[in-house]
Formats: sequence, C-alpha cells, structure tokens
Amino acid sequence: MKISRRGALALVGGGTILAATAGGFALTRTPTRALEPWKRAGRYEEPRRRALSYAILAPNPHNRQPWLADLRDPDTVILHRDRTRDLPQTDPFERQLTIGMGCFLELLAIAASQDGHAVAFALFPEGEEGPIAVARFNKGGAPDPLFAHVLDRRSCKEPFEDRPVPKDMVETLAAYARIIDDPPTVSQIVALSWDAWTVEAKTPRTLRESVELMRFGRSEIEASPDGVDLGGPFLEALMAVGAVSRRAQLDPSSFAFQEGVRIYEEMLKATPAYAVLTTPTNTRLDQIEAGRRWLRLNLATTSLGLALHPVSQALQEFPEMAGCFRRAHDLLAEPGHTVQMLGRLGFGPSAPASPRWPLETRIRNG
Ligand SMILES: Cc1cc2nc3c(=O)[nH]c(=O)nc-3n(C[C@H](O)[C@H](O)[C@H](O)COP(=O)(O)O)c2cc1C
Repeated sequence: MKISRRGALALVGGGTILAATAGGFALTRTPTRALEPWKRAGRYEEPRRRALSYAILAPNPHNRQPWLADLRDPDTVILHRDRTRDLPQTDPFERQLTIGMGCFLELLAIAASQDGHAVAFALFPEGEEGPIAVARFNKGGAPDPLFAHVLDRRSCKEPFEDRPVPKDMVETLAAYARIIDDPPTVSQIVALSWDAWTVEAKTPRTLRESVELMRFGRSEIEASPDGVDLGGPFLEALMAVGAVSRRAQLDPSSFAFQEGVRIYEEMLKATPAYAVLTTPTNTRLDQIEAGRRWLRLNLATTSLGLALHPVSQALQEFPEMAGCFRRAHDLLAEPGHTVQMLGRLGFGPSAPASPRWPLETRIRNG
C-alpha cells in the first residue's frame, strides 16, 4: 500500500515529512528490483516461461504468490500451490488462496493464447492435495483482447471518486460479474465492509497474520517482494522516526494504528459501486473458476479506466467473522450459494504496481 500525501501529512501534522522527501530521497525509495518482474514480462524465449512471466503478475490474497511451476515435462506446466505461504488465520479453508490460483491460470491461458498456444488444463488431477493443475501447451489459441491490459491491471487500494459508474460501463461489466450500484445496497455493503475490516483488525491473531506480512520500506520489500508492501518516501520517513513500525501496527492504542484505521475507513467508504462473484456450490473447481472470472473482470475494468479493489474481510471464514459472513451472504447471494469475491468498483487514482518475486524463484525443474 502506498500512502497518499494527504494521509501522510495528517499522520505527522506537517513539516518533517516534506523535508524528508526533498532531493533524491523519493527516487531512492522505489523498490526497483521488486518491480522488475513487471518489466521482464514477455521477455522470455521459451513459450511456457513467457506465459508464466505474465501469470506471476496475477492478483492473489495478501500478495503471497504461492505458485510453483514445475517444468519437468515438455510443453507442460505442473502448477503447485506452495503451502508454506498459506494464510491459516484469515483463510483457514484456503478458499481465497485457491481463487488466486484461478487468477494465475486464467492469466497463463490469456498470455499463451497471445503467442499462438491453447492451454488445456487438467484441474486437481491427483485430488485436492496434489497439484492445482497440469497445463498443456498445444498449438492454437486466438489472442484475447484483454491481454492488452495485463500490465496496467491493479488492485486499487485507494478512495474512489465521488461519481457513479456510468450505466454503459455497468452493462459491459455485467458480462463478468454482478455489479451493484444502487445507493441503498451500496450503503449497506459499505457498512458491512467497514464492520468486517474492524473485526479482522480487532482479532489479535488475524491482525498479527497481516502485520507479519507487512514489508516496512524499500529494503524489506526488496528482500521479500510479497505481502503487504508499505513503501514510498512518506511512509519511509515515518518509519525513520519510529512512527510506523511492526510493533505500532500490532498495538491498537498506538497513533500509527489509529491513523491506519482512519485511512482505511475513509477508503472503504469512498465507494460508488461493487462487483460480486457468487457460486451455487463451493468446491475447489468453483473457487478456481471464480478466480478466472475475477481476473477477466479486473482486466475489463482496467480497459474501461475503472478501478477495482477486492474487499474480502466479510467473506472470511474464522469464527469472529461469522456475523459479517452471514450478513454478506444474506445481502449478496441466493440461499445456499457462496460469495467468492466482493470488490469496490469506481474511478480511482492510478495505483503503482505491487512487488513480485522473480519468475526464476517460482520455477522448479526447468
Ligand atoms: C482472493 C483475493 C482476495 C483479496 N482480498 C483482498 C482484500 O481483502 N483487501 C485488499 O486490499 N486486497 C485484496 N486482494 C488483492 C491483493 O492484495 C492483490 O492482488 C495483491 O496485493 C497484488 O496486487 P495487485 O493485484 O495490484 O497486483 C485480494 C486478491 C485476491 C485474489
């Protein structure tokens, strides 16, 4: 997450931070190496590597990037989920992580088709404990117009402008997801997403899981280009004076924690519309399919100049969240169906790319 100038100034009340951002400081705080995979995408000769170099840019929960691609068999990617990257507190049934793998697979297929390959997937060929998919690269495949937006796609974690999503855009996006833009329902979801965010932040073990994944400043981001990246010159200056730290983020009475709460509240409330994906059942295949749909939705919103931001707290399956989970399902799904994804939709500022591990670290036997 990058903090806005407005937010950061409020955090310290002025001067210090402006001084700290003068000169070369701002430039030197960009985690260049952690962003390198966005530049290297497509710059591989071998077709599987070229498609994988785009697929690693997929959205995924807490930016854990749990994908591992085994290249031992020709023309084939055996895709595993790295279980050391699980989120046991906020995603105890690995539902969100599986959705993230679905985003990866869809991006892999879109990128391969650009190159004249049709990818055939065998999903969970050895059951749930084995690989997520065996992807076979065959000749064929028609380029997908959504490919043009892969490098600009973001999860935009910012307040959105106070203007509705135009009706023609809502109609276009209805092919990808249910779009909710009627003000009474939007208000109910705003209230729900805020309540749910508060539950996660006030439950010590779920808060700790998120804080442990925070990367404070450029050197931590470069060392572990995943998780929740807290970077940029403003935040780094706050870190330098001790106002933002892992310890402060774990202490709800700290100034930094309370400012974080204020910034999130402002962001969650600045939302004119939502996108929702539901499934009648909740199998691993449903979760993969939801991920594939989410990725396409996110590329489509990018093509329209709209911002999309998943807000998953109310969909999380830990006991303290049960009340919000029920409200989300009563509000957003038919009885018995599962809400797989909920996202804020609207006009947002341009958001920076988020860090990625280099492709080479995600490949085995290649
Ligand atoms: C299943 C799923 C759940 C997510 N839930 C949240 C969320 O609750 N809050 C949030 O800020 N981002 C959420 N994200 C977005 C990720 O944080 C984001 O994809 C990741 O940090 C990489 O950033 P990028 O999408 O901009 O490349 C979610 C993404 C996925 C796929």
